[in-house]
This record gives sequence, structure tokens and C-alpha cells, in this order.
Amino acid sequence: MLHRIGNTPLFHSEFLSQLAGCSVYIKADYLNPGMSSKDRPALYMIQCAEKDGLLHPGDTVVEASSGNTAIGLAMLCKSRGYKSHFFISKKCSEEKREILRLYDAELTECPSSGDMNDPDSTLGRAAAYVRNTPGTFFCNQYFNDANSLAHMETTGPEVWKQTRGEVTHFIAGLGTGGTITGTGRYLKSMREEVQIIGVEPVGSVLQEYYRSGVPGSPGPYQIEGIGRSFLPGNLDVAYVSDIWQIHDHQAVEAAYWLKDKTGFLAGFSSAAVTGSFLQRKDTFAPTDHVVLFFADHGSRYLSKLYNKEWLKANIKPHGEVYA
Ligand SMILES: Cc1ncc(COP(=O)(O)O)c(C=O)c1O
Repeated sequence: MLHRIGNTPLFHSEFLSQLAGCSVYIKADYLNPGMSSKDRPALYMIQCAEKDGLLHPGDTVVEASSGNTAIGLAMLCKSRGYKSHFFISKKCSEEKREILRLYDAELTECPSSGDMNDPDSTLGRAAAYVRNTPGTFFCNQYFNDANSLAHMETTGPEVWKQTRGEVTHFIAGLGTGGTITGTGRYLKSMREEVQIIGVEPVGSVLQEYYRSGVPGSPGPYQIEGIGRSFLPGNLDVAYVSDIWQIHDHQAVEAAYWLKDKTGFLAGFSSAAVTGSFLQRKDTFAPTDHVVLFFADHGSRYLSKLYNKEWLKANIKPHGEVYA
């Protein structure tokens, strides 16, 4: 399974290409063995820790995660003989929790997903747990360089090769910043003009940081896996060309539009990426080659994004989020 992580297919989408009048590709990272892009950083963080002598047989791998990194890690822990304990926020979908429980992972739900200084956040509680518990290793995907390194050494070269060096735009969700920073670093080293675009929900603080150097004020949002209320160490804006924001209800509309027009069930962040792209489709030139990064699959959100009751209770059509 380890050798199956990465090297995901790149599909040319004739439907989106015709609509936008340029070449549009989907990087299908939902086809990783753990069914998300986060298998890549999970593998790198574990391998680096083993190489540095920080992980020993029988140890417990600890992480603060919205779910997908935890799933990648839990899968690897099973195959390598580690235990796992994840600090998740209440946003983490039931589908992701069920997969984690199948892997015998211990789960602690935390009230917030703020930074390390917030003792009630996933990060704050994970860090405190590791400080007080021997035989644990904290992956810390927000600040562990192995996260963006994974994308620099795998996602970037794959996209370059699969587009035969023709990629002009790489558009991906922004959470820890690992995908955008690592892939951007590689693609820009191959051709500086490649546009690297991060997508986050309205309510995340990173667009404002990118534009003014000061993080914006955090607000509520429902899109899972992307957006932050603090500045993650894995985001290096030197490799970023722009950050787009999208409302929850616009990502939902994009998900249903994709389902009805193409039959594809997009994950929440993939829908956000697609929706943000569609909003700007008229700004692309016929010679552009645009890669949309699909980090996971809609089957992970049947109880949320694809559940009418949940939508009614949590997403307002005018972009407001119910408390
Ligand atoms: C579904 C999904 N999309 C996008 C991201 C963001 O990727 P990154 O953390 O590399 O910025 C994540 C991160 O957890 C995710 O789970």
C-alpha cells in the first residue's frame, strides 16, 4: 500500500474545458489508498520521524486533524505497528470518525481548531497530551516541514510530468498550506510564471494575510478540511500567486452542480475549488492549462454536504452560517 501513495491520475475534463474555454484537468488525489491527498504528508511525516529516531515500535502517533491526515496516519500506523490518537474538531464528519474507529484510533473531540496557544484547540490539546505522555510522537502537520516536502517531491513533479510542463495554473484548497507551498515550490522552480492559487472559505484568515501581511479576523464556516483561524507554518506565501475565498453555500452549489452535470461526487474542498474556478472561468485564456486539485471524495460527506437535513440546518443560501 505504501507504494500506492501518490502517482494519482490527472484527468482531462472535456466538460469543464468546454465551459471555461481552456484546458482543465482534475488531479484525482481522492484515489490515494486512504482516499485523500493527506496520505502523502502522513507517509512523509512518519518516515522522517523514523529516520530521525523519534518513533519506536509500539509508540503512539498523535495528530490534530480535520480527519483526512488522521486517516492516512491511522492506515500507516496499522501497517507499521504504532498506536494512534487523534485530536479532532466537532466539524469532522461521522464518515471520517467511523473509518478512524475501524483503525482502532483513539479520538478526542476538542471545542476549537485554533492554534497551539489555545488550550482547548485540537493543536493545543494534542501538544499538551504529547508533553505529558511518554512513548508518543506529535506529527504536527501545521508546522512539520515533511508535510510540504511531500508535495514538493511528489505532487509537484507529478503535475509537471502529467501536463508535459504545460500547466499554467494550479488551484487547490488551503488548510495547513502543505499542498500549495510544496507543489507551488516545485512548479515555480520549473517555470516561475505558473500561477499557484489557494482556496479557502470566507471566515478563514489567510487571504487577508496574503494581501496585507496581517491575518484577517476569523469567522465561522462549514467547509471541512480547508481554512484556518491562525497562520500555519507550512504556508509560505512566496510560492502563492493568489488566495480566493468562497462562501459555504457557493461550495455546496458547486458540489450539486458537478453531481448533476457530470455524475461526480466531489469532496467539500474539491467543490470549493471547482466553485471558485467557475466564478472566474471567463478570466482564463484558451492557451491556459488549469489543474484543479481534488483532495478527497464526496463519499466522505454523505452525512453533511450530501445530506439535505444537514444542509438545511447548517448552510444559509445567503452565505451565513448557523451557529
Ligand atoms: C479535504 C481536504 N482538502 C484540502 C485540504 C488542505 O490541504 P493542505 O493541508 O495541504 O493545505 C485538506 C487538509 O486537511 C483536506 O482534508
